[in-house]
Amino acid sequence: MITNPDVKVSIEHLYKHFGAETAVKDFNLDITQGEFVTLLGPSGCGKTTTLRCVAGLERPEEGEIKIGSETVVAPAKDIYLFPEHRNIGMVFQSYAVWPHMTVFDNVAYGLRVRRASSSEIKTRTMRALELVGLDHLAGRFATKLSGGQRQRVALARAIVYEPEVILFDEPLSNLDAKLREQMRDEIVRLQKEVGITSIFVTHDQSEALVMSDRVVVMDKAVIQQIGDPEDIYANPVNSFVANFIGVTSLLEGKLTARNGEACEVEVPSANGGAPLQLRGAGAPGAQPGDAIFLNLRPEDVQLHLEAPDVSDGRNVIEGQVIDTIYLGSFLEGRVRAGGHEIGIQIDHYENLSPDQTVWLTFQPEHGLCLTD
Ligand SMILES: Nc1ncnc2c1ncn2[C@@H]1O[C@H](COP(=O)(O)OP(=O)(O)O)[C@@H](O)[C@H]1O
Ligand SMILES: [Mg+2]
Repeated sequence: MITNPDVKVSIEHLYKHFGAETAVKDFNLDITQGEFVTLLGPSGCGKTTTLRCVAGLERPEEGEIKIGSETVVAPAKDIYLFPEHRNIGMVFQSYAVWPHMTVFDNVAYGLRVRRASSSEIKTRTMRALELVGLDHLAGRFATKLSGGQRQRVALARAIVYEPEVILFDEPLSNLDAKLREQMRDEIVRLQKEVGITSIFVTHDQSEALVMSDRVVVMDKAVIQQIGDPEDIYANPVNSFVANFIGVTSLLEGKLTARNGEACEVEVPSANGGAPLQLRGAGAPGAQPGDAIFLNLRPEDVQLHLEAPDVSDGRNVIEGQVIDTIYLGSFLEGRVRAGGHEIGIQIDHYENLSPDQTVWLTFQPEHGLCLTD
């Protein structure tokens, strides 16, 4: 096996079962030095279990995990290192700070356990507290802290002994919206500043898109897609990923013809009317007759109040307004066409009334065709 020295964490063919249930199935991922990788997916898809296998809190039945050059678990080779023998820091959803200790002692604990000298403990603890902006509260008892401050203590505690990797399991979910955004930005800043390799778990797609260098989308114990945020958003590999990341309309139909990337898709009407005949792109390998999801992002759809001229090859769909929601800088709307709902984004003011007839157009390259 060729080992890339930039790879900090390598997970290969990881399997974890609980009784008859498969929590993680054939998980493969290499994470490079300094990278911020997020495991994203709905509740129960196996994110925490994967993270706990890296931490040593769960023992997988199959696979191999390396941290740096060290194999930390490999059942086939009878290798398993306890969590305390793995060079990792952890930040979880529950703050897990010790209330009977000061902020300083909470953070210093990990260094004391590792028998660092007292001058080293002082320097490194204060440095970690400075990084999270809590140096002025070093002497305060943890019970006297706000939720955000406790989460910062947890963060300082995880980075103080400079682990090779830091693991985050939904650390922001207990915070209110405003604090969540602030902590999110702080974690990203800190991560870049310290340059520490990070694995972050969340079910919140916007958190994943904002924070990550790469996102691993999971569903039902299986990795669906790995990519940077832009790639995952623009080029989802299947309808699950398309639906989970951002807002989208998925029109279910079948391929009627294809020419290279260009696809013709017929979407049957859901209310007995004529089917929608649309042009999209993608679905390499799909043949006429195959089922297709046509994925349409709201920002790629243009709204018209009069029938538009589409001699330039755009798709046009006639429909009726369902409703619109005012979101400050733009409107979100829903239009019903052929019994299907299509989401649109309107960035200039339009006075639309329910049931009003409108026309939607989109370029064929924006109708991403997916086969599953
Ligand atoms: N200790 C456990 N015992 C039994 N089943 C578990 C245990 N931990 C997790 N599971 C199951 O494994 C699956 C994956 O769980 P988990 O990794 O916690 O998902 P996520 O973090 O993505 O929400 C779920 O179906 C969950 O019920
Ligand atoms: Mg979880």
